[in-house]
Amino acid sequence: MRGLITIPIFLYLFIFTTAASKSRLILNRGDSITVGKESQFLTSPDATFTLGFYGLGTNACWLAIWFTNSADKTVVWTANRNRPVNRNGAAKVTLRRDGTMVLTDVDGTVVWQTNTTSFDIAAAHLLNTGNLVLRSQKGDILWQSFDSPMNTLLPSQPFTKSTRLTSVSSQASFATGIFNLYFGSDNVLRLISDSPDTSTSYWPNPDLRMYENGRTNYNSSRIAVLDDHGRFLSSDLLQFNASDVGPGVKRRLTMDYDGNLRIYSLNGSTGLWSVTWQALSQPCNVKGVCGRNAICVYAPLLPKCTCPPGYVVEDETNWNTGCNPMFNPKLLQSKEVNFLQIPHTDFYGFDLNTTDPVTLETCRSMCLEDFRCVAFSYRLLGQGFCFIKSAMLNGYAAPDFEASIYIKLPDTLAPSKPNIFHASSQTCGSDEREELIGSSSMYDFGSRRVKWVYMYSFAAALGAIELMFILLGWWFLFQKHGIPASVEAGYNMISSQFRQYTYSELKKATKNFAEELGRGGSGSVYKGVLSDDRVVAVKKLGDVFQAHEEYFAEISTIGKINHMNLVRIWGFCLERRHRLLVYEYLDNLSLDRHVFGSSFLSWKQRYAVALGTAKGLAYLHHECLEWVIHCDVKPENILLDSDFQPKIADFGLAKLLQREGDGSEFTRIRGTKGYMAPEWALSLPITSKVDVFGYGVVVLEMVRGVRLGNWGEEEGDGGGALSSFVRRWRGEVEGVVDGRLEGRFGRRQAAALIQVGIACVEDDRNKRPTMATVVQSLMACEYEED
Ligand SMILES: *[C@@H]1O[C@H](CO)[C@@H](O)[C@H](O)[C@H]1NC(C)=O
Ligand SMILES: *[C@@H]1O[C@H](CO)[C@@H](O)[C@H](O)[C@H]1NC(C)=O
Ligand SMILES: *[C@@H]1O[C@H](CO)[C@@H](O)[C@H](O)[C@H]1NC(C)=O
Ligand SMILES: *[C@@H]1O[C@H](CO)[C@@H](O)[C@H](O)[C@H]1NC(C)=O
Ligand SMILES: *[C@@H]1O[C@H](CO)[C@@H](O)[C@H](O)[C@H]1NC(C)=O
Repeated sequence: MRGLITIPIFLYLFIFTTAASKSRLILNRGDSITVGKESQFLTSPDATFTLGFYGLGTNACWLAIWFTNSADKTVVWTANRNRPVNRNGAAKVTLRRDGTMVLTDVDGTVVWQTNTTSFDIAAAHLLNTGNLVLRSQKGDILWQSFDSPMNTLLPSQPFTKSTRLTSVSSQASFATGIFNLYFGSDNVLRLISDSPDTSTSYWPNPDLRMYENGRTNYNSSRIAVLDDHGRFLSSDLLQFNASDVGPGVKRRLTMDYDGNLRIYSLNGSTGLWSVTWQALSQPCNVKGVCGRNAICVYAPLLPKCTCPPGYVVEDETNWNTGCNPMFNPKLLQSKEVNFLQIPHTDFYGFDLNTTDPVTLETCRSMCLEDFRCVAFSYRLLGQGFCFIKSAMLNGYAAPDFEASIYIKLPDTLAPSKPNIFHASSQTCGSDEREELIGSSSMYDFGSRRVKWVYMYSFAAALGAIELMFILLGWWFLFQKHGIPASVEAGYNMISSQFRQYTYSELKKATKNFAEELGRGGSGSVYKGVLSDDRVVAVKKLGDVFQAHEEYFAEISTIGKINHMNLVRIWGFCLERRHRLLVYEYLDNLSLDRHVFGSSFLSWKQRYAVALGTAKGLAYLHHECLEWVIHCDVKPENILLDSDFQPKIADFGLAKLLQREGDGSEFTRIRGTKGYMAPEWALSLPITSKVDVFGYGVVVLEMVRGVRLGNWGEEEGDGGGALSSFVRRWRGEVEGVVDGRLEGRFGRRQAAALIQVGIACVEDDRNKRPTMATVVQSLMACEYEED
């Protein structure tokens, strides 16, 4: 296959190999391994693998398993990928006497634990396979790291319906990235990129039928394994071999940060890895690898990303975040625009309209007429196919791809026609090659060559067929077994407090849904008391919440989210057509009752609510296992506990809505008038900045004590309450803050809140702060109650 690929894996790696370090084979009950100078390790009997603390950068440190003899100590598993511990201190992992393996940070906080309380557990071993296990006296395995892989599958490690490999977010971190390998509910092993913008499946080739990809939907056992010879076999008939197939080589299958899945083999003498298999031979076929507005340029090994003219990269170290326009995107809605042709380039999906063949001029005017259109793609293959685009995602360029994208740019910008291939002209003698290929115009898709023209005409049909499969598969699973086994396995692993309830249990708990607490777009909420006397709020989801491919995964994700400013979810019910969620009950109900009603919060309480809500949203956006966009931030969804501390309700529901299939935009059904960011109306893709907007409206409403939301109202005639408030703000808080407080409020806090609120409701989402920034600025004035 390919020769050596040397990916510069880590910025700065240090391993604690000081004189005092000692290695051991067994961690007995009561033993621990501590970070620091006298760090200890646990090694496998044949010394292939080591468990210990692994540091990156200057301060962060992970409990990890790595290949002892690879040159860069390649990590295959971490316990705490999203919560590193402090390297300079007394963080440690202990096998407690009660049988739980616990990782604690410097200050003693528990960062991770195995939840295996059992006095039967005798010791922890690291096996020769790289599996960390907790064994009982009799030798039974009671817990194993193989059940919760990170981004790597080792030989003999089973890959099942409940496992998932998730890439790291960058080369300098183990944090969860956007690329995933798992079995879809259609039983097919697939690669999916799951970014805040979209969720797209890109392997097996989405443009081919399942059997054309050599896969099958019919075997529901969903199991795969890489054996010691480098042969991979999956129940969906996927089968492949490492190019150096045979015994005696150390290998790993890794979901790489560039979205490709690769087998690496270790050269025992040099300690370097070489790629002996990879899922996609063309790295630009990884959807989302270059992020929004960016273009992936054909490059033989690793993808190269670039921004089109008029756009600038957001974060050069992480191209998944894409490029931002250097102009106000609203300008594209006017007719004062130019189109700039970028040859050999296209963006995949997000088509507003496709037509029968038309002329370039017609295609151009279709894009000009539609204010949602940001670019159009035109393919002159005898006929002219025209695709007008609502967003520029999954961009790619290949020298032999005979189509152009025409991007809309404001008149004021006049960049020249770009040469995307300039940088890499060595590999692509573009013009000559085109001549050779002639008018057949094909684009290399992996090892196959697929005619683009046909692909698009079939895309719709294929989509429909696939949707049918998904629905049929769902129906089958659901009717026959009630609930797929994967779910049961999944939620058993989650904390025991999160569980499935039967419909009759919830009916009884709510006395046949007698006491309605509220009603919203997603459904109605009822008060109930469970048999263990816990008071709960039971939400009946509306019909828009159809079961879809990812439903169970999403519910268990929501179940795992735990933060003091988020409403805790105790469980769910899925029976026939009933879909219910069970939440903790909060005494003081929702914020709207305490801002717009006759009872109202004190200033101190308001500030605490603003800060707590920001913390909850920041957690969802930035810290949570999977990024979650709330999509419906409003006072009705902010609940108050008995101390008037805020907890956000209804998060994660946007992900439960029916998705429209791969490549479609994030669902648009949610959101509440008055709190919706302008991009909803503009059909721009939805990012976490919609929550920032909703939050801004809520904050300003808390300051004023009245509703302000004015989305959809006519501009020009003075505008709605929100825009007129923003326009009239001159930095003077007197007379602006809710009169019912009779002047009892913190001046600096009020000014901070209003500034934050106004920044959050900027029309241009790039100008809105992130929730993390909001938390920082509000914390700065937390104690200034002048
Ligand atoms: C143990 O349970 C806690 C919450 O109950 C959970 O956050 C954690 O992920 C669990 N640990 C493992 C290894 O399953
Ligand atoms: C499904 O796949 C598993 C694992 O590859 C295999 O053992 C089993 O025989 C298959 N079942 C059917 C019905 O083909
Ligand atoms: C993998 O190798 C085995 C022999 O070790 C062979 O039987 C099998 O056909 C190979 N599979 C593929 C997909 O090449
Ligand atoms: C390992 O690397 C050395 C030096 O590059 C090379 O000579 C040797 O053939 C390699 N071994 C394997 C098994 O590829
Ligand atoms: C697509 O464009 C054609 C021609 O301009 C127009 O008649 C049709 O209504 C459009 N369809 C959609 C869904 O916008």
